[in-house]
Amino acid sequence: MLVLKVLLLLLYCVGNIGCSTVPDNTTDMLSLLGFKEAITNDPLGVLSSWNKSIHFCSWKGVWCSPKHPGRVTALNLAGQGLSGTIAASVGNLTSVRSVDLSSNNFSGQIPHLANLQKMQVLNLSFNTLDGIIPDTLTNCSNMRKLDLYTNLLEGAIPPPIGRLRNLVYIDLSRNNLTGIIPASLKNISLLETIYLQRNQLEGSIPDELGQFSNISLMALGANRLSGNIPASLFNLSSLQVLELRANLLGGTLPTNMGDHLTNLRELYMGHNMLEGHIPASLSNASMLEYIVLQSNNFTGRIPTSLGKLSRLSKLDLQLNMLEANDTEGWKFLDALTNCTALEVLALTANQLQGVIPNSIGFLPSTLQYLILGGNTLSGIIPPSIGNLSGLILLALDENSLAGTIDQLIGNLKNLQYLHLEENNFAGTIPPTIGNLTELYLMKNDFIGSIPSTVGNLTRLSWLYLGKNKLQGLIPTSLGNLKQLTRLDLSDNNLQYNMP
Ligand SMILES: *[C@@H]1O[C@H](CO)[C@@H](O)[C@H](O)[C@H]1NC(C)=O
Ligand SMILES: *[C@@H]1O[C@H](CO)[C@@H](O)[C@H](O)[C@H]1NC(C)=O
Ligand SMILES: *[C@@H]1O[C@H](CO)[C@@H](O)[C@H](O)[C@H]1NC(C)=O
Ligand SMILES: *[C@@H]1O[C@H](CO)[C@@H](O)[C@H](O)[C@H]1NC(C)=O
Ligand SMILES: *[C@@H]1O[C@H](CO)[C@@H](O)[C@H](O)[C@H]1NC(C)=O
Ligand SMILES: *[C@@H]1O[C@H](CO)[C@@H](O)[C@H](O)[C@H]1NC(C)=O
Ligand SMILES: *[C@@H]1O[C@H](CO)[C@@H](O)[C@H](O)[C@H]1NC(C)=O
Ligand SMILES: *[C@@H]1O[C@H](CO)[C@@H](O)[C@H](O)[C@H]1NC(C)=O
Ligand SMILES: *[C@@H]1O[C@H](CO)[C@@H](O)[C@H](O)[C@H]1NC(C)=O
Ligand SMILES: *[C@@H]1O[C@H](CO)[C@@H](O)[C@H](O)[C@H]1NC(C)=O
Ligand SMILES: *[C@@H]1O[C@H](CO)[C@@H](O)[C@H](O)[C@H]1NC(C)=O
Ligand SMILES: *[C@@H]1O[C@H](CO)[C@@H](O)[C@H](O)[C@H]1NC(C)=O
Repeated sequence: MLVLKVLLLLLYCVGNIGCSTVPDNTTDMLSLLGFKEAITNDPLGVLSSWNKSIHFCSWKGVWCSPKHPGRVTALNLAGQGLSGTIAASVGNLTSVRSVDLSSNNFSGQIPHLANLQKMQVLNLSFNTLDGIIPDTLTNCSNMRKLDLYTNLLEGAIPPPIGRLRNLVYIDLSRNNLTGIIPASLKNISLLETIYLQRNQLEGSIPDELGQFSNISLMALGANRLSGNIPASLFNLSSLQVLELRANLLGGTLPTNMGDHLTNLRELYMGHNMLEGHIPASLSNASMLEYIVLQSNNFTGRIPTSLGKLSRLSKLDLQLNMLEANDTEGWKFLDALTNCTALEVLALTANQLQGVIPNSIGFLPSTLQYLILGGNTLSGIIPPSIGNLSGLILLALDENSLAGTIDQLIGNLKNLQYLHLEENNFAGTIPPTIGNLTELYLMKNDFIGSIPSTVGNLTRLSWLYLGKNKLQGLIPTSLGNLKQLTRLDLSDNNLQYNMP
């Protein structure tokens, strides 16, 4: 037994000069045993190696210092299915640099870790920890990455959080944190990434958050933040992603908003109470790929300057009060034909009026989602729309569009979702309607019979034809639609011979 132990110690000691003298009753070992004791379930048996026949520096998930034998530098047991609490004794691993207990089932509170002065990484994400984030955690002055994502933590973000001067990454999102965003964050001058979204934070966004010089990602969405967005945020030229969606933010955006956001790629401000015009200067943020401003109260025209954004991939301005009521107002569409990376154009529920300009067909072939429902569009669908061969979804529902749809589908070979419901479309349903997954034609004036070719749409899962003037027999080929889960043929003049 003794021989084995010495052998194991020697094995562990290869390359670690002098470590064979490390006693196995040090504070670090006692701390680890304390940690093990608090584990109530170890489904993968990872802690079975944590026994005295092996030196603790060789226990699974434990790393020790080569320079200071017997001192634990890392405890990494991510994703091991462990349940239980995090023992207070972890707070005695004073040489530890990294503690990663993420993706387990730890519950209870975060222990007192203020003595871990060398700790650079603390990752407790994806657990069910509750209670508060202890203020004393801000004593871990060497912390570079703090990740508490997805727990049940409550209470305030520690007001002295700014004492973590070396922090580059902080993620407190998906918890139940309340109170305000501490202004002391401004002291963390190296900060690159800050995730606070999906909590219950309130108050306004501190002006001080505009003082970071290395920040690349700021995500504060899905909280209860209110007031105006501080103009200082728009000076953060290192910012690549700004996510403020689903808060109670109001006011207008500054006209020079885009002038300094030279690295911004993704802008999310949807589901707030923002008003006024969308600043034309947004086009000066020339790296922009995603602009998502849906569900606000923006008014005025959609700026034509957006056509300068050569990387623009998603423009989502749905559910605002944006207007296009004359040639001038529709010019944005011409401009967007220059955005050769555009994939999503979503303008549902605004105040777009009149005939859709023919230029719609000259949007790039990269376009996959064209969403214009809930406006007051009238006239016919421009035939040029058939050029948009990349379209997967076309939504023109809830407008006053008329004419037939015979020519519509021809070239739209990739179309899967077609929403034309609640318009004044007339004529028959064409026999070649593409290979759709969802077809919505209800509340129009379609006549004639349902083409039997509908049975060829093997992918069709939703078919809504209700409230039209269809007649004749229901084609038996409908029975071929094995994927069909929703079918509405109501309020027509069909003969009910359901196949
Ligand atoms: C460890 O064990 C040695 C020898 O048994 C003993 O002298 C020492 O006091 C112990 N240290 C601790 C911290 O228990
Ligand atoms: C100690 O851990 C080693 C390595 O996992 C294992 O082979 C051994 O059976 C364990 N001993 C005890 C007493 O559990
Ligand atoms: C931490 O270490 C000290 C000194 O070795 C000891 O007195 C204390 O009980 C330890 N705390 C825990 C929670 O293990
Ligand atoms: C923390 O752990 C999670 C899951 O194990 C991982 O996805 C995440 O990147 C880690 N955080 C940091 C800052 O390394
Ligand atoms: C987590 O622990 C709870 C009880 O503490 C248990 O009901 C649940 O099944 C555990 N989940 C996993 C994924 O181990
Ligand atoms: C945390 O740091 C402060 C200031 O350096 C000090 O006064 C306090 O005692 C420390 N707290 C703990 C628990 O170490
Ligand atoms: C968050 O806190 C609120 C009130 O403080 C509570 O009602 C709610 O259940 C909590 N949510 C979670 C997921 O713990
Ligand atoms: C938009 O403005 C109208 C009228 O000013 C107001 O009733 C509505 O609540 C606002 N909507 C949002 C999302 O702010
Ligand atoms: C047309 O749109 C412009 C720009 O938003 C607006 O100023 C004007 O009042 C609108 N005119 C009508 C008749 O709605
Ligand atoms: C598209 O870009 C070209 C070349 O930069 C420019 O000449 C043209 O005016 C732009 N078109 C629109 C509609 O903005
Ligand atoms: C429709 O698409 C499915 C799946 O891609 C394919 O199997 C089927 O042959 C297509 N049908 C027609 C009529 O193109
Ligand atoms: C389409 O459906 C019609 C009528 O059901 C049938 O005669 C024809 O063979 C089908 N075409 C294809 C390509 O499946």
